[in-house]
Amino acid sequence: MKRKPNVAVVGATGVVGTTFLKVLEERDFPYDNLYLMASSRSAGKTVTFRGKDYVVEELNEHSFDKPIDIALFSAGGGTSATYAPIAAAHGTVVVDNSSQWRMDETVPLVVPEVNPQDIEWNKGIIANPNCSTIQAMVALKPLQDAYGIKRVVYSTYQAVSGSGMKGINDLKNGLEGKDEPLQAYAHPIAGNCLPHIDVFLPNGYTKEEMKMINETHKILGDDSIKVTATTVRVPVFDSHSESINVELEKPFELEDIIELFRRSPGIVVQDDVENNVYPLARDAAGTDEVYIGRIRRDFSVDNGINIWVVADNIRKGAATNAVQIAERLLEILPD
Ligand code: A2P
Repeated sequence: MKRKPNVAVVGATGVVGTTFLKVLEERDFPYDNLYLMASSRSAGKTVTFRGKDYVVEELNEHSFDKPIDIALFSAGGGTSATYAPIAAAHGTVVVDNSSQWRMDETVPLVVPEVNPQDIEWNKGIIANPNCSTIQAMVALKPLQDAYGIKRVVYSTYQAVSGSGMKGINDLKNGLEGKDEPLQAYAHPIAGNCLPHIDVFLPNGYTKEEMKMINETHKILGDDSIKVTATTVRVPVFDSHSESINVELEKPFELEDIIELFRRSPGIVVQDDVENNVYPLARDAAGTDEVYIGRIRRDFSVDNGINIWVVADNIRKGAATNAVQIAERLLEILPD
């Protein structure tokens, strides 16, 4: 696409939506017209972006009657279910941050460092994976390519910003000792770890855990990889941390894997335990990289490895990944 696209941000007043705007500005994303959309609660509010005031529009079935090339959606699954198809029918390509379309076979699920080629077969909707899945994929793709992956065990330590403003409010209120009703969680999050993200399913897993399992298969394009997950909400504002145990198909030298991570896109290795250097949520917050450390052999199996993987869940785990997809779209969209 040679001309500048018209861009819409849906859910522009939310935690991810405001970060979409920040990332678009930082990366100097080209646009001609920009439309900010949210619910009726925010309609009429003014948002300043690059020195210009934009009035937030209420999202409705006519929002895409005007020519919009790319729409970044982060306004919940129900909103995406209704409005992403309407946008796509008008010729807009939607990059959707909700879980609504991720496992739909007609919708690509994309991490640009991992499967950018899938962007090309989009039919108007491209799904942004779950925040925990994205950072895991950036770490696992080089291992898959070099050694093959047999089995993965995820244990996550996830920040409250992944629950939007309600999660942030629950942690703030708890830390300040305020006796406010909980907005996002079944139990207080301050001073706690909740092994409960999204709803419980009949198989005993949470929906978040099944998202990690199913999305891993789709993005890595291999359903034969054995995957299990335990996802936990922890009292951290920003950045998800993950312990990932991987059983590889082929033998490896640890130094080769460290070198492989160093050379792989989107990864920063932070692994110097003698000096207490390993990835930390507070350091990752506000950045776009996936940090990997505590890289060590799992002696309990033949070709096992343990890694500690940290990334900003709102940036690489949501907004930045979506904007990276949009940047690739610019290369293939017709004028
Ligand atoms: P609004 O601020 O008007 O409620 P969060 O990060 O807090 O979960 O933000 C969710 C985002 O999705 C907000 O921008 C919110 O707008 C938007 N949103 C929620 N429901 C709808 C809806 N039915 N239509 C359009 N936008 C919605």
